[in-house]
Parts: sequence; C-alpha cells; structure tokens
Amino acid sequence: MSQRTVLITGGAGFIGSHLVKRFLKLHDYRILTLDKLTYAGHLGNLAEVLHHPNHSFVKGDICDEALLDKLFQEENISDVIHLAAESHVDRSIESPLEFVQTNVIGTVTLLNSAKKHWQGNANKRFHHVSTDEVFGSLGEHGAFNEHTSYDPRSPYSSSKASSDHFVRAYGHTYGMNTVISNCSNNYGPNQFPEKLIPLMINNIVKHHPLPVYGEGLNVRDWLWVEDHVEALDLVFHQGKTGDSYNIGGNEEWKNIDLVHALCEQMDQLLGRQPGSAASLITHVKDRAGHDLRYAIDASKIKAELNWEPKMSFENGLRATALWYLENDSWLDSVMDGSYRDYYERQYQKR
Ligand code: NAD
Ligand code: TYD
Repeated sequence: MSQRTVLITGGAGFIGSHLVKRFLKLHDYRILTLDKLTYAGHLGNLAEVLHHPNHSFVKGDICDEALLDKLFQEENISDVIHLAAESHVDRSIESPLEFVQTNVIGTVTLLNSAKKHWQGNANKRFHHVSTDEVFGSLGEHGAFNEHTSYDPRSPYSSSKASSDHFVRAYGHTYGMNTVISNCSNNYGPNQFPEKLIPLMINNIVKHHPLPVYGEGLNVRDWLWVEDHVEALDLVFHQGKTGDSYNIGGNEEWKNIDLVHALCEQMDQLLGRQPGSAASLITHVKDRAGHDLRYAIDASKIKAELNWEPKMSFENGLRATALWYLENDSWLDSVMDGSYRDYYERQYQKR
C-alpha cells in the first residue's frame, strides 16, 4: 500500500503547527502543509520539521482553486485535515468579509477540489477543525453537546458555522468521508499574542496594561493545545464518518480569575513583588456581542475514542508562561508591522 499523504491546511499557525509536528513524530505519512502565512502563520512554528524527509511546505491560499487542483493532481493527497482560518473574534468584528473569504469560500473551494479529485472514494477523509463558538452562548448552567443547535453570534463563529454546514452538506450530498471536531479555547506555546493568554503574558513582561473586557465575568473552557492535537489524531483516525466530536478541557474560568491566576504565576517566574502584575489589570470597553459562557460536554469523545484531557490548567498555564519567557525572540519575530498597528488600536480602546 502506498504511503498516505495528508494535506494539513493552516499548519504554520498555532494548533496546526502542533498537529504537523505530532503527525510527523507518530505516523509514517507524507505531510503536506499548506499555509498562506498571514500575520498568524509563521514558519518558525515548524522550524524543527521544515526539513523532515516526510514533510513539504507550500505557501498558498485555500481560496486558490488552481493551486489546490495542482496539489491534488500532483501530490496524490489521501486525506485533508483543515485548520486554515481567520481565527480571532475581535478581528472578525472589524473585518467580517475576510472571515467569509477564508473560512467560508476557502473551505468550499477546498471541498470542491477534494470532491473533484477523490471522485467519491470513501477512503479519503476530510477532517474539518472547528470551534465550540458555533453553538452560541450559554447561561450559568449547561454545556454544548454534539446535538446542540447552532447559534453563532459573532462574525467569526458565523463563518465557522457556515463552513461546518458546508462540510456536512458535502458529506450528505456527495458522499464524501467527512468528520468535524468542535473544540473549546486552546492555549499553549506558539499562540499568536492577540489571544487572551499570550496577550496578557506579553503585556505583563512589558509592564503594559492588561485589558480585561467589561467586568471580566465571561467564562471560557481552556484546553492545552497538545491535548487538542491528541484528540484530533483520534478523531481523524477513528471518528465515525459524518459525525462530529466536541472536544473540551473541563477547565471553565471567568476571564478575571484566569488573569489573576496568570498574574500570580508571572510574578513568581519574573521574581517580581506579589501583586505587581495584577496592578496592571485595566477594565476596558466590552467586546461587542461578547458571548457570556462556553462549556463543552466531551462525553462522546471519551466514550467512543477514550480521550480526555491530560494537562491540568495550573501546570499548563505555568508551562505556557515559561515557554513565552524562554522564547522572547519568537514573540518579537511574530510582532511584525501589521500586527503592531492592530495592537496599537487595541490599546486605543482603553
Ligand atoms: P491561527 O490563527 O493560529 O492559525 C491559522 C493559520 O491559517 C495561520 O497559519 C494562517 O497563516 C493560515 N491561514 C489563514 N488564512 C489562510 C488562507 N486563506 N489560506 C491558507 N492558510 C491560511 O489559528 P489556530 O488558533 O491555530 O486555529 C486553527 C483552527 O482551529 C481554526 O480553524 C480555528 O477556527 C480552529 N479552532 C481554534 C481554537 C483556538 O482556541 N485557537 C479553538 C477551536 C477551534
Ligand atoms: P480570546 O482569546 O480572543 O478567545 P475567544 O474570544 O475566541 O474566546 O478571548 C478569550 C476571552 O478573553 C474572551 O471572553 C474575551 C476576553 N479577552 C479580554 O478580556 N481581553 C483581551 O485583551 C482579549 C484578547 C480577550
């Protein structure tokens, strides 16, 4: 049997780069990483595997039909794991069309190419990586399960919900072998410093204000990125065709409590006075349409694929903080001009 060639889109981003590295380590597949290298994608995230004999990197856009056709024709792609996306809610509020372009049009362009070249071969799998945000916002109680109705509320979650629907539609209409995973908030090394945890770490190091939106009472469920990619590995290999799997960390935190916990860890790691980082906390204008709470019922993936998160939030947060402190050159290299402009605008919101 010939070696499997797995196309991983968005493999130079945060989660994608951890997935590419895991697959090269654990599976004897050819991995083809396709990434546009937007502000969020960095080859440095793949430094240790860029020259791996089983790995090829292609810089390109998932909206580029001609490029996709060429890749499917020439590379004998056996499977797709699709992570490429615009991923930040605040940016989606500023520029929704970019999210429609990549997350919706890009996903459908990729599905079309796969359909055309795979010609109904049900062995070829299309795994779409999505978010719990498609389910909307919860009150104080309850959790999203795989049967929860979609109710996206931000331009980001709307674009991801739309892409999920297209993936299901391609499975149902054309018989493609699709599977979807919907995960809660990830954290860990290599996350672009616009998301809550790395943004706060970076600001603490630089003695900048820590912008907490509103009262900071919104709740997110946090998952260590390596636990997520382990779950993706299982869903890709063993998930039922046409099904979806919710993936969560069982770690619900109010933003303000999380920021305080991080401040304590950072003061210790930086040898600063207790309370020093917390004194930087600044409540800023709330995010428009800010979802109150996300929580995941991950009992299906536990029962069917025997997966549950391994990393405790306390240890994961410490490991993340340490990684950023030890990799300040990574941080500097991703803070290019375009991001700095955005970063400045975030400051002006204060
Ligand atoms: P990220 O923003 O760190 O990385 C996205 C990657 O996609 C980048 O490398 C970027 O260059 C690439 N990309 C963007 N537009 C592209 C295009 N048009 N063509 C090719 N490549 C393009 O995102 P992430 O946090 O790693 O998230 C990866 C996936 O997981 C996304 O689909 C996201 O919706 C989903 N997800 C993320 C989280 C989270 O907490 N970060 C949680 C659940 C699901
Ligand atoms: P974020 O990391 O952007 O992920 P998402 O919006 O996809 O959940 O934000 C996590 C939570 O932190 C969210 O409730 C918004 C809040 N937040 C802040 O309070 N301040 C910030 O500077 C950022 C980026 C987020």
